[in-house]
Amino acid sequence: MRHHFTEADFQIYHEPVSLPRNWQGQAEAPSNIALIKYWGKKGEQIPMNASLSFTLSQSKTITKAEATLLKKKAPAVRFRFYFEGKRNEKFEDKIKTFFKRIEPYAPYLKQFEWTFHSENTFPHSSGIASSASGFAALAKIIMQLEQHLFPGLNRDYAAYKTSFLARLGSGSASRSTGSGIQVWGEHPEIPGSNDLYSVDFPFPVHENFRHMHDWIFLLDTGVKTVSSTKGHALIDRHPFKEARIQSVQQHLKSLSVAIQKGDYDTFGEIIEREALTLHALMMTSRPAYILMKPQTLEVIQTLWDFRRQTNARIYFTLDAGANLHLIFPSSEQENARKFTGSFEKITVIKDQIL
Ligand code: PMV
Repeated sequence: MRHHFTEADFQIYHEPVSLPRNWQGQAEAPSNIALIKYWGKKGEQIPMNASLSFTLSQSKTITKAEATLLKKKAPAVRFRFYFEGKRNEKFEDKIKTFFKRIEPYAPYLKQFEWTFHSENTFPHSSGIASSASGFAALAKIIMQLEQHLFPGLNRDYAAYKTSFLARLGSGSASRSTGSGIQVWGEHPEIPGSNDLYSVDFPFPVHENFRHMHDWIFLLDTGVKTVSSTKGHALIDRHPFKEARIQSVQQHLKSLSVAIQKGDYDTFGEIIEREALTLHALMMTSRPAYILMKPQTLEVIQTLWDFRRQTNARIYFTLDAGANLHLIFPSSEQENARKFTGSFEKITVIKDQIL
């Protein structure tokens, strides 16, 4: 049995021996795409169900931090946040909530005055999960400082605490502090999995799934009409809640077996069912809402036709938005190019799994 860290393990009970007058940190974190979706929470950032994701490699957030020691510890973390060169008050609001949540785990942040400069390698508001990479990068910076203040931290502790902190910013961010295939949320078939932080997929990955691609079709770059925060909340009293909990548990189990065996058909069937279930839950929420656009359906239909004609091993998934992610192994790149060629006007961001 692996050791699980608890919330109490991540709390800081004593003051650092010394504090630097000035400190600088820098970190980058990739985005991730969930194949088994986290949708619905219990309590403070605890997922209703376990999720599994692929970590991307090109789409990332890069953040720099400068900290200046204050004469006296501030009552709340003092900071300014610049996104792509401009101060961003919307992000500052979200980060304020984050800093409040992580206070018992990183009280040392209040000793400094902070300036953050952050940028993404992907187009802003392209619908790619920027909160995941954004909070993961912030959590990495915080843990860099913690390692500086408390030298000799255990490596597992530092890595898991990074994911733990990121989770308190945005749930999906917990899966963006590592690499490869990540599992966040307790699942009986996944050793080490737990609700507090994400862990590496613990089984050997079949050769068929070692070189996977994610090509993102940008179908809607506007602001989402319903945020993920609101979407999660609507699951609380959703009429299909219990059915969702049971089916997603089963989906993760089957996907895990498919990844170990190299079974493309099951993999494709499960990830597409997960994507459509996520959107079905939105459409059957009260109030109901739809984040797909007509083009999302058009691409899905065209992909299903293409697969019938070519047997290509190219599948799709969707996030909480209209954009479509094509997921396929390296061996299908030629087919993916052919398929993408029939949508000349659509911008496609090409990424692969880290
Ligand atoms: O991390 P949040 O609260 O933005 O929620 C993300 C939810 C999905 O992206 C739809 C699914 C997931 O597991 O990433």
